[in-house]
Amino acid sequence: MCGIVGYLGKREKKELLLDGLQELEYRGYDSAGIAIIEDDQLNNFKAVGKLANLREKTKDFHSEGFGISIGHTRWATHGKPTELNAHPHLGQYSYVVHNGIIENYQDLKAELQNDGISFLSQTDTETIVHLFEKYNKISSTPFEAFAKTIERLHGAFATLLITEAAPDTIFFAKNGSPMLIGFDADEVYFASSDTPIIGKATQVYYLEDGEYGYAKSGEVKLFDAKGARAIQKQPLATDKAMAQKDGYRFFMEKEIYEQSSVISDTMIGRVRDKEIYFEELDSAFFEGINAIKICACGTSYHAALTSGYLFERLAKIRCDVEIASEFRYKEPLLDPSTLFVTISQSGETADTLEALKMAKRAGLKSLSICNVDNSSIVRESDAVILTRAGIEKGVASTKAFATQAMVLWMLSVYLAQKRQTMSDEAKAIEITAMLQTPKSLLVTEELHGKLHRLSKRYLHGHGFFFIGRDIFYPLALEGALKLKEISYLHAEGYPAGEMKHGPIALADSKLFTIALMPKTVHYDKIKSNVEELSARDATILAISPEPFTLADDFIQTIYASHPMLEFFEMMVVTQILALEIAVRLGNDVDMPRNLAKSVTVE
Ligand code: AGP
Repeated sequence: MCGIVGYLGKREKKELLLDGLQELEYRGYDSAGIAIIEDDQLNNFKAVGKLANLREKTKDFHSEGFGISIGHTRWATHGKPTELNAHPHLGQYSYVVHNGIIENYQDLKAELQNDGISFLSQTDTETIVHLFEKYNKISSTPFEAFAKTIERLHGAFATLLITEAAPDTIFFAKNGSPMLIGFDADEVYFASSDTPIIGKATQVYYLEDGEYGYAKSGEVKLFDAKGARAIQKQPLATDKAMAQKDGYRFFMEKEIYEQSSVISDTMIGRVRDKEIYFEELDSAFFEGINAIKICACGTSYHAALTSGYLFERLAKIRCDVEIASEFRYKEPLLDPSTLFVTISQSGETADTLEALKMAKRAGLKSLSICNVDNSSIVRESDAVILTRAGIEKGVASTKAFATQAMVLWMLSVYLAQKRQTMSDEAKAIEITAMLQTPKSLLVTEELHGKLHRLSKRYLHGHGFFFIGRDIFYPLALEGALKLKEISYLHAEGYPAGEMKHGPIALADSKLFTIALMPKTVHYDKIKSNVEELSARDATILAISPEPFTLADDFIQTIYASHPMLEFFEMMVVTQILALEIAVRLGNDVDMPRNLAKSVTVE
């Protein structure tokens, strides 16, 4: 979610910044910008859209000699992708770039506006630069002003600031969002990850939360709440392809592990003070709405199915979920009091986009839940909630699904608030559980190791049934989809109670059943369904907090207090199981055969 680069030294800065940003473009690409101070001369360029536009705009500019520079590629969170909202943000004589979300920006902005400062952008970031210049008037050094500024910020930030008040210095701070410092002789680099500096810097320091400081004349001074700190540099990797995967074997694997942290990005600013907020939705958005229709494809459809249970249960509103390609041709009856919701990771899926256009023609209000800002589905919708998963490279969707499910859960509670269908106590239970989600998504070495060992027993047979009830039924569908996408083995998801109506005829020892057996939802019912399968000799892999004696294999999850916490933990288990089976079969996990990341054809 946004990429940052910075450089202090004698090299040509424009190309260096642009090349660095190119490496980070996967973190966001709705606008980009750079600012350079050289010979006390400040230059700044911004462009909307992909980095290529900024390249074109700066093609006649070159920098020479010693100087300082910062750059940014943006993934919009506050304000539309316009040039004014693009970073670097300008004060009167300083520039700032930032990745993350300043949660108290509205209070800070009001304070600064009271002081007579006008804002050019709708971003939270602009408060940083104005706050810095405010403190610079009353501080003995620009660094003192920067430290005072950082002290006022709440939320997640990785930020770089340059100022004409100290034209040889880059100020930096990190909390929550990633940032590192690269070193080579008297040159200093900053970046959100190490790929932009591989081949340039030789040593690196990965900043910790709460650290801040400045780089000047090739030297870096580092501080935290306790004062000055020594920098423990380490050698920088030289293999770029490996570095992009952060040491994981596949992007999909990296994305599974990332889920625990991106889910916090999904919640930032939205889950706070015991309430759910969606600043992107007008307060009157749900007026006149008495039903919800959701259309999506594939994994996004499974996230939608999950929310079908949540909207009706929590917000007491009717919710129908349809596969977009079916919806398009069924001549559906559409009522303008129905909110039309589309869910899409890419925002470009042709069937989902066409379904949305149909609903709009029928006069329905539309909302998209999407991971790519400015995508076709987002542009076509009346309102959008971004899932903030960051770019997902693995074709088999993982973190996009987790963040979609999270947004939909938050939206159900948000709507319950609006419709007053939930007591304060019940809401507190939901919100407390939401805040525990990052923990449920953690992958332990023990779990991964166990699934790796166990996967060798599941490479043959005549198919898999993933079974579950309630919200664990869509999770079963998703588990089966993940496995078939990357292992090419036959797998089906089924509601557990439906097995006896036909599919159980397939049961024998070569039928692998992955049973999702949460303790918080209908445990006894699913237990009976699994017992029926076991009695017919099916091979059972049970995933449950409760030990299950009839299981051939057993993955024990924790006794969680809320079904969604069990949901997320079991989701991770099914993802890693699929991954380990596919790896054993020698398949290309990130780019499985016959599939594409963005399905823009019917
Ligand atoms: C999931 O792993 C898929 N590769 C696929 O099912 C995907 O979810 C589907 O094509 C919909 O894509 P979208 O979310 O980008 O609309």
